[in-house]
Amino acid sequence: MRSFPPYRAQVVAEIPVTTRAERERALAAAGYNAFNLPARMVTIDLLTDSGTGAVSTAQEAAAAAADRSYAGSDSFFRFREALSELTHYPHILPVHQGRAAERVLFTSVLRAGQISVSNTHFDTTRANVELLGAEARDLPCAEFGDLDSLEPFKGNINLDRLEQLLTGPEADRVGMVLVTITNNGGGGQPVSMANLAAASRLARAHGVPIFLDAARFAENAWLVVQREEGYAGKTPRAVAEEAFGLVDGAVASLKKDGISPMGAFIGLTDPELAQRCETNLIATEGFRTYGGLGAHDLDRVAKGLHEVLDPHYLEARADEAARLAQAANDAGVDIVQPPGIHALYLNAGRLLPHLPASRFPGHSLACELYLEGGIRCVELGSLYLGTLDENNELVTPAPFELVRIALPRRVYSQGHYEYVAEVLGDIAKNPDRVPGYRIVDAPKILRHFNLRMAPV
Ligand code: F0G
Repeated sequence: MRSFPPYRAQVVAEIPVTTRAERERALAAAGYNAFNLPARMVTIDLLTDSGTGAVSTAQEAAAAAADRSYAGSDSFFRFREALSELTHYPHILPVHQGRAAERVLFTSVLRAGQISVSNTHFDTTRANVELLGAEARDLPCAEFGDLDSLEPFKGNINLDRLEQLLTGPEADRVGMVLVTITNNGGGGQPVSMANLAAASRLARAHGVPIFLDAARFAENAWLVVQREEGYAGKTPRAVAEEAFGLVDGAVASLKKDGISPMGAFIGLTDPELAQRCETNLIATEGFRTYGGLGAHDLDRVAKGLHEVLDPHYLEARADEAARLAQAANDAGVDIVQPPGIHALYLNAGRLLPHLPASRFPGHSLACELYLEGGIRCVELGSLYLGTLDENNELVTPAPFELVRIALPRRVYSQGHYEYVAEVLGDIAKNPDRVPGYRIVDAPKILRHFNLRMAPV
């Protein structure tokens, strides 16, 4: 491995250094919920890769020269051109972030009682489907069920089950197919082009529109180039263009592979659907040439979309994730295999076998990473996905107890990740001493953001 990041730091931000006693107080005050921690108490913030990427000098120069005209600003035309070149969709709408793009599109596509079917809906995506009275149904491929297997495309949608749904008794209820690339809710695993093409053929054969949730389109394209037969030697841009071309449109948060602090888009082929979305956008988000975004972010996106498809950048980023995955394994912590790019998913259930699902081992590991090293990350296990009774006791556990450590783009260096691996290693030496947690208070909707917990 001889990759290196094709950029250097030119402006840096200090990060907080805290003592264990300070972190213990901060976490207790936060109700043992990392979302309640003030960022000034976090040393390495691996909570998300969304809106946290470092911007380039080219992005900041473009942002400074942005055109803030209400209608028809130059910044919008640059934003649209970057996305038209990439997607070839005739209709491009700017939106302030991914979940708003979802709301605008789904409101125009789905009706109450219909089904949205996906490899996996991201949590806000599911919420936006459910808020319309529709059902979000996940059909991940069978290979995802084995966390250790090295199957290259464990983010795929299950084609057999998709076909059964589209030909079975519920066929009339299917309102849309949504393929998430990469599959964030499914271990950050990529979707193959063959799978996407087959899903698209099925959807079209049954007259159902198919869209991409393309938040990590560039990272998916890179993994296709690396792993899928027939794609070696293609550019990530060519692969991404092909992916957008296989479907009827896309929504994407541009806070990930747009490398922008804020932004999203809706891209569509159908003029009538685009018109409905535009009306909704103007009424609820902003005029069609800014969609709720500041002009500076329209310009940051226009540049970021080019930077993110640089093969040297993607190679270095993928290698960084693979090295951290190896270091975690060497430290005795298993991750969902094979490692993706935007995040690693630690197998907390396996590391902490003394904790039953009802004591939330994923949450325990996430808290321990904070207490031990000031590292912030998030549970993806029974706390997030399980069902609770009215006393907040776990009734149905999640299939896996995972912790996601997300890797912000261009932010941390090898030294930071070596530190993360060391902290993991220290925890893995004495896993028995890691306590479980119980829920003190949990709201009914989007509970992981507002939970209060206590160690037991
Ligand atoms: N779709 C996917 C696959 C996502 O990962 C996200 C956000 C969204 C949609 C919503 O986009 O945040 O711009 O409104 N994911 C972030 C994360 C928050 O941490 O994974 P948004």
